[in-house]
Amino acid sequence: MNYRELGASGLLVSPICLGTMTFGTPVTEAEAIRLVHGAMDLGINFIDTANVYEGYARYLGSPGGTAEEIVGKALVGRRDQAVVATKVCAPVGSGPQDRGLSASHILREVDRSLKRLQTDYIDLYIIHWPDKHVPLETTLAAIDQCVRQGKVRYFGASNHNAAQLCEMLWLADRHGWPRVVSSQIPFSLLRREFQQDLEFCARHSIGVTPYQPLQGGLLTGKYSRGQKPPGDSRAAEKPAWMWDFDDALFDRLEKVDALASDLGVPPAQYSLAWALRQPAMSSLVVGVKSLKQIQDAIDSLTVEIPAAHFDQIDQTYPPPWRQPDPVRG
Ligand SMILES: NC(=O)c1ccc[n+]([C@@H]2O[C@H](COP(=O)([O-])OP(=O)(O)OC[C@H]3O[C@@H](n4cnc5c(N)ncnc54)[C@H](OP(=O)(O)O)[C@@H]3O)[C@@H](O)[C@H]2O)c1
Repeated sequence: MNYRELGASGLLVSPICLGTMTFGTPVTEAEAIRLVHGAMDLGINFIDTANVYEGYARYLGSPGGTAEEIVGKALVGRRDQAVVATKVCAPVGSGPQDRGLSASHILREVDRSLKRLQTDYIDLYIIHWPDKHVPLETTLAAIDQCVRQGKVRYFGASNHNAAQLCEMLWLADRHGWPRVVSSQIPFSLLRREFQQDLEFCARHSIGVTPYQPLQGGLLTGKYSRGQKPPGDSRAAEKPAWMWDFDDALFDRLEKVDALASDLGVPPAQYSLAWALRQPAMSSLVVGVKSLKQIQDAIDSLTVEIPAAHFDQIDQTYPPPWRQPDPVRG
């Protein structure tokens, strides 16, 4: 495994990060623990979770915690070998302090995450979403407190654009607070809204750790135009988490399939290899249901995409890529 730098943190992480959003259902606790151990045995040292993850049982405002608990159990006796990222911001209840980026919520949630993860430090604490009700100074001062208390080693941002990351860097310089070291954005062959921000991250040593690089499985070649989704796929088990299937989507998927078959590799490996070649990429946060899927992700590390393909891909998915965002408007 060729480990990559996680921004300016000094941490070295595997280019594939194990996502845990499906821990609980459909991935049971016993399977999830096997997956964590199997991934680590294959050289993956980076695990992404969140205080809210609880698999397909999740609904807006449900208490979460399941995935962190499972990761905690899986890492008993192996904690030092893993770089653990978890997140705060999304609702974990219906009360006014049960969400967001206030100091109250962050300082309460960091303790809950530590307990569930059975650890006394979080390697990477990520602010999950922007919170327009809380000044960034308030949030960063709370993160600084977590770092000074030794509960958090580094902090990252998720679903923030370059302007917001820039403000974080500026505030860190001004107040002597910790620097943002990573950016977790949605990014795949099908979703490139943040494409223009990657160069900013590269210039400022912010490691990009994109989520859903397989677009929830759409980019794996398992779905075909006019066919019912396979029974054990996400589209069959949890359609609410998937995009609508329409002809425009299949037009694009079929082009990826053709490019991948040109190289003789499965579409999943092709899609991950493409993402890994983008600027500032530290590690792709991939969700998996089996060891075979982990192995597929690892195999993508050796796939070389010819230069001509990058142009063909840009023609298939032409700019402008930026689209309105539900949080920032
Ligand atoms: N920061 C955020 O706001 C945010 C948001 C979403 C996710 N995340 C993180 O990103 C991680 C990944 O998200 P995700 O799981 O939705 O997206 P993903 O990695 O794009 O898709 C993963 C799904 O694709 C299928 N798959 C994976 N490898 C495959 C292979 N080789 N062949 C066939 N199918 C394969 C599996 O589903 P099936 O086998 O069930 O079809 C798997 O659960 C999450 O676990 C979480 O850690 C972060």
